[in-house]
Amino acid sequence: MPVILAIESSCDETSASVCVNGQILSNVIANQTIHEAYGGVVPELASRVHQQNIVPAVQQALSNAKVSKNDIDAVAFTRGPGLLGSLLVGVSFAKAFALARNLPLIEVNHMQAHILAHFIADKKPSFPFMCLTVSGGHTQIVLVKDYFDMEIIGQTMDDAAGEAMDKTSKILGLPYPGGPLIDKNARNGNPDAYKFPEPQIPGFDFSFSGLKTSILYFIRDNVGKNPNFVQENMNDICASVEKRIATILLNKLKRAALQYNIKELALAGGVSANTGLRLGLQQLCAENGWGCFIPKFEYCTDNAAMIAIAGYYKYLKKDFVGQDVAPMARMIF
Ligand code: KG4
Ligand code: ZN
Repeated sequence: MPVILAIESSCDETSASVCVNGQILSNVIANQTIHEAYGGVVPELASRVHQQNIVPAVQQALSNAKVSKNDIDAVAFTRGPGLLGSLLVGVSFAKAFALARNLPLIEVNHMQAHILAHFIADKKPSFPFMCLTVSGGHTQIVLVKDYFDMEIIGQTMDDAAGEAMDKTSKILGLPYPGGPLIDKNARNGNPDAYKFPEPQIPGFDFSFSGLKTSILYFIRDNVGKNPNFVQENMNDICASVEKRIATILLNKLKRAALQYNIKELALAGGVSANTGLRLGLQQLCAENGWGCFIPKFEYCTDNAAMIAIAGYYKYLKKDFVGQDVAPMARMIF
């Protein structure tokens, strides 16, 4: 019955989780609101707030799980990818905690953990499955052959899907992070009101920078004719942008599933919280008779529960790292 304490600090959420024998008992997430004023995450500020939040987050995670420090068998942490200063706080905390209590350390790749979040639920996907991992920094189609045997078969060549959401919302004058606001407005809009182009990128790769530019020009031209264009049509614009981003993602995912003959599809990463994308994947899977796996909202955006579950599967393999481990801003798998 291993008890694992997990730490996530790769971007702007400080999170701690306790997992006992593969069951998540707590998942505490301290959000950083300080970045809203800057329209994006300021790395230096993020690492300072992580320093303030990490001890209270861990104490809360232990208390919510009704677990004492003495019960912990291993410490799992996000090694990368992410912001170096932010990662450093979580990695240093995990190392210090493990050193003080003579516990094994487990490094976790943040992007693998987003995918392994599917193993928190009772209904788990079976290998091999295809996962669309979409976050603020990544957009990947991953062929998941086993817990730690994953192959990226397509990825973005420029902006990530979440970045496209956030940059579009900035163009529309919405505050950061804009993804959830686009989602909220889109629920009351017509997704077919405006047609934005679908980039023609070969294979399973993506590109979102052209879409961003075409949205920018579209808004500029229309605001030139009607200064209130955005305010008057906000819901329709959000719904149309959301639909375009979702169809770009799902069209490639479908082609990948067909080419690799995969019958189970999954979503992961912060953008998997998006309503249009979730509904789109459900429809795609229903039409093709494929299994559909969508994480609970709390496990879509950054959280330590996904680090804990990844840590649990590494613990079973005794896959530990030494005290010389250092964070990696760019970390592939
Ligand atoms: O995985 P995540 O929490 O952090 C990274 O590792 O990047 O993803 C954050 C991204 C942001 O771009 C945010 O705008 C987007 O996920 N996001 C959403 C929604 N919730 C979060 N995008 C669209 N609709 C949402 N409901
Ligand atoms: Zn993430």
